[in-house]
Amino acid sequence: MSPRTATTTAAVHPLLADRWSPRSFDAAHTLGDEELVSLLEAARWAPSAYNAQPWRFLVGRRGDTTFLRILDALVPFNQAWAHASSLLVAAVAQENVEDGVPQPGPSYDTGLATAQLVLQAHALGLHAHQMSGFDADALRASLGVPEGFRPLSVVAVGALAPAELLPPKLRERETAVRERRPVAETFFAHTWGTPLPVRP
Ligand SMILES: Cc1cc2nc3c(=O)[nH]c(=O)nc-3n(C[C@H](O)[C@H](O)[C@H](O)COP(=O)(O)O)c2cc1C
Repeated sequence: MSPRTATTTAAVHPLLADRWSPRSFDAAHTLGDEELVSLLEAARWAPSAYNAQPWRFLVGRRGDTTFLRILDALVPFNQAWAHASSLLVAAVAQENVEDGVPQPGPSYDTGLATAQLVLQAHALGLHAHQMSGFDADALRASLGVPEGFRPLSVVAVGALAPAELLPPKLRERETAVRERRPVAETFFAHTWGTPLPVRP
């Protein structure tokens, strides 16, 4: 158990309890080929509605052009720390528009596949941090994302570095207490807002 471990009212799997989103990555770490493929396989084997697999991923390792292009598309706040990660993965969903109405399914499924990649990273002893702070049009243009596909998020993956190496503002966030909305305000039964009557 680390100081970042989630405080839960009943035990949850350590992979879930210990996952968190750091910003301090070791800029000297490089990802092995097998680790990389393992992350991608975890995403590829996600479930999806009708097994449509509406996701695609653009994958850049630190030092290559894809990494730089994804990094360039991040907002400056995210660039400030994500540059030290070992891997940047842009998750892209194939859009599904029916009768002029964009369907939520592809985003749901792509988020799920991304979550599997994130958890696999933690299972390998790495860390992952998802971001929505990026310019989707810039990413589209620099990486040639075709019409009908929508960049949804970017995930930074790498090895954890000490929080002390971050600039003060980021260091504060890195060590802040992790919080969640209480169980009673999140899970309802009978009617909306009525807490589920469970006690651990
Ligand atoms: C879809 C998504 C987008 C996010 N975007 C950003 C972001 O742009 N920049 C950032 O620093 N963190 C971002 N985060 C990280 C969240 O702030 C973080 O997951 C949340 O505070 C909970 O912390 P934890 O992951 O350590 O439990 C994002 C997370 C998700 C799932």
